[in-house]
Amino acid sequence: MPKITYLENNGNSKTIEVPNGLTVMEGAVQNDIPGIDADCGGGMACATCHIYVNEEWLDKLPAKEDGEEDMLDMAYEPNKFSRLSCQIIVSDELDGLEVSIPSKQG
Ligand code: FES
Repeated sequence: MPKITYLENNGNSKTIEVPNGLTVMEGAVQNDIPGIDADCGGGMACATCHIYVNEEWLDKLPAKEDGEEDMLDMAYEPNKFSRLSCQIIVSDELDGLEVSIPSKQG
């Protein structure tokens, strides 16, 4: 099962096995990772699942769909590493992915 590491803004990190087919957001919510509220349940309508992707992973992720960029503009301090975690579907290729949770969401 792919392992995803969630870096919390307090310096803690949690590495979790997330089944293929779930999203990075669902992996966080199901394991009580603080800071990923996912208010809209994955509908790309809230930006409370905003995360920063570790630089080495940025180009390995599926491209953003229409709408993700617009929603990220409303997130807290978006930058070029920003993604909506509800739009990243876990697969074997993502084993070892590291994502950071923005401080204001913690
Ligand atoms: S959960 Fe709302 S945009 Fe991802």
